[in-house]
Amino acid sequence: MTSKDTIEILLGELEAFGIANDAANTERGSRMLNITRDTGELLAVLIQARGARKVLEIGTSNGYSTLWLARAVQALQGTVVTVELAGDKFAMAQANIGRAGLAAVVEQKLADAGQVLRDAPDGGHDFIFLDSARSQYEAWWPQLDRVLAAGGVLVVDNASSHYGEMAAFLDSIRADARYTSCLVPVGKGEFIAVKAPG
Ligand SMILES: C[S@@+](CC[C@H](N)C(=O)[O-])C[C@H]1O[C@@H](n2cnc3c(N)ncnc32)[C@H](O)[C@@H]1O
Repeated sequence: MTSKDTIEILLGELEAFGIANDAANTERGSRMLNITRDTGELLAVLIQARGARKVLEIGTSNGYSTLWLARAVQALQGTVVTVELAGDKFAMAQANIGRAGLAAVVEQKLADAGQVLRDAPDGGHDFIFLDSARSQYEAWWPQLDRVLAAGGVLVVDNASSHYGEMAAFLDSIRADARYTSCLVPVGKGEFIAVKAPG
């Protein structure tokens, strides 16, 4: 079996698990809250189109979206740094990333994303996927902007499903002349912003 087959099987398993688990659990901390498959496909296309090699994911959960990012970036000899605050989800992601054979591509951080952003170097990432604590996005924006490289891409999940919670954040990006953005009706709504080349 090829590694592509192994990852496909795992993605399918995680999709079924996420749907069943989230239907059975109402408490947010117990839910996986995974992206949809078409969102994963979109992320992979954007990474390939950008040639992104230094990817940052904020909000790992059990690693479903991380697998999409890591598989896309592996083909470009890049790496993914992914951040998760919850220890149980960090451990689930570690097992899933290992099963996929992508451990060498992914650096997992068990940490608060705000702290990771503060510690990250200027322009250290050419692709950022934001799928985490929506109430923090506006406060994180100066650091997200600093950490994103010139010409880099920021993708924000839930931009349609939870538009009201992040309207001010999205408006800040739209008002910034250095960014070109759009909201695409894929999955739960993906806001995509491209930073002007330096
Ligand atoms: C929507 S889920 C991520 C789903 C994942 N991207 C996927 O599609 O498989 C959001 C995750 O962000 C984590 N989280 C919430 N606040 C955080 C913070 N301040 N720093 C890091 N992770 C955080 C939660 O524990 C949760 O697992």
